[in-house]
Amino acid sequence: MTNLSKPEISPFIVMEILEEAQKLEKMGKRIIHFEIGEPTEEVDEKIIKKGLKALKDKRYKYTSSLGIHELRKLISDDYKINFDLNIEPERIIITSGSSTAILLAILSSTKINDEIIIIDPHYPCYPQIIKILGRNIKIFKTYETDNYQIDINELKKIISKKTKGLIVNSPANPTGVSQSDSILKKLSKLNIQIISDEIYQGLSIDYPLNTILKHDLTNSIVVNGFSKYYSMTGWRLGYIVMPKSLIRYAQKLQQNMFICAPTISQHAATGCYEITKKNKDLLIKKYKKNRDFLIKELSKMNININYKPDSAFYIFCDMSNYTKNSLNLCKDILDKVGLALAPGIDFGEDYKKFVRISYASTFSDIQKGITLLDSYLKKYIK
Ligand SMILES: Cc1ncc(COP(=O)(O)O)c(C=O)c1O
Repeated sequence: MTNLSKPEISPFIVMEILEEAQKLEKMGKRIIHFEIGEPTEEVDEKIIKKGLKALKDKRYKYTSSLGIHELRKLISDDYKINFDLNIEPERIIITSGSSTAILLAILSSTKINDEIIIIDPHYPCYPQIIKILGRNIKIFKTYETDNYQIDINELKKIISKKTKGLIVNSPANPTGVSQSDSILKKLSKLNIQIISDEIYQGLSIDYPLNTILKHDLTNSIVVNGFSKYYSMTGWRLGYIVMPKSLIRYAQKLQQNMFICAPTISQHAATGCYEITKKNKDLLIKKYKKNRDFLIKELSKMNININYKPDSAFYIFCDMSNYTKNSLNLCKDILDKVGLALAPGIDFGEDYKKFVRISYASTFSDIQKGITLLDSYLKKYIK
């Protein structure tokens, strides 16, 4: 039976912390941001130039619902260059952020009341989106002691007739962990729809570039976007790679719900494929420096990271030496010393003692933030 009542939705707590931090900033307080998964890097000049050119040439009306062919072809070429995979542009739809791609993925591959597995700790919006779309959530846990890797044998035990889909996010928010290649391969062999959210692709510090499409070229759905690797958060641009059988349905969803992705952003994003390898390597080098410094400094405060955050500018910290309720702790740290952190509860019920640090900022802010955390813990936690 379809549940027609309005679903209870939880807030995206990280956004609420950000909004609180912004209020304090408006009042003149200096805040260091470790909470939001938003790179402070500037958008590359090549992207800006393409966007400005599109504006100048008055290319700002609706595009095809699938997106401009030039960008879809560049994405397709990128799969060829990086993985030697042939993903035809016809299988790619440009979307308004990868958030919209997640909606299209779920709506075109599952039905109301179908069960979708998400992996804990998870990106906060997955369960909310699944609920909003009238699907049911099943949680599968991963553990720090297993480096947050999915135990496929255990996973198989919870797959039932009702289970139609699974969302995997690798590299992952909030752990910064990549699933091993063999796990991705095993996932792709399961008899359910895999939706692989690869938005952090390219942001690996010590892990090879990967995609589930390597293991299943035809059936997996891949969600990706320009917010993280290219720092284009506000440009609202993502894309989805669909099996051929689902593309027409997804196109109709896009036409009816979103019409098309933002036109200027689509033209601007063609510049992403001109960014030099040198600049890309430089970015990863910066993130490596931030991550290694943080892990070392956190351990001095007795916050030990017992897994390998190999990618994607996040560290998920067990704060049980300091608190049983990291939401209150985060609010207090923000209030007392002006450091914004993401509380673990956003990433699953079992993470009330965790906080997530996003290190996608300057080294100088990372140093300032860690000093603030140290001073808070020394002063306020006995
Ligand atoms: C795992 C994951 N998927 C999707 C998104 C949404 O990104 P956007 O809609 O900006 O592309 C985020 C943003 O933080 C994320 O962490």
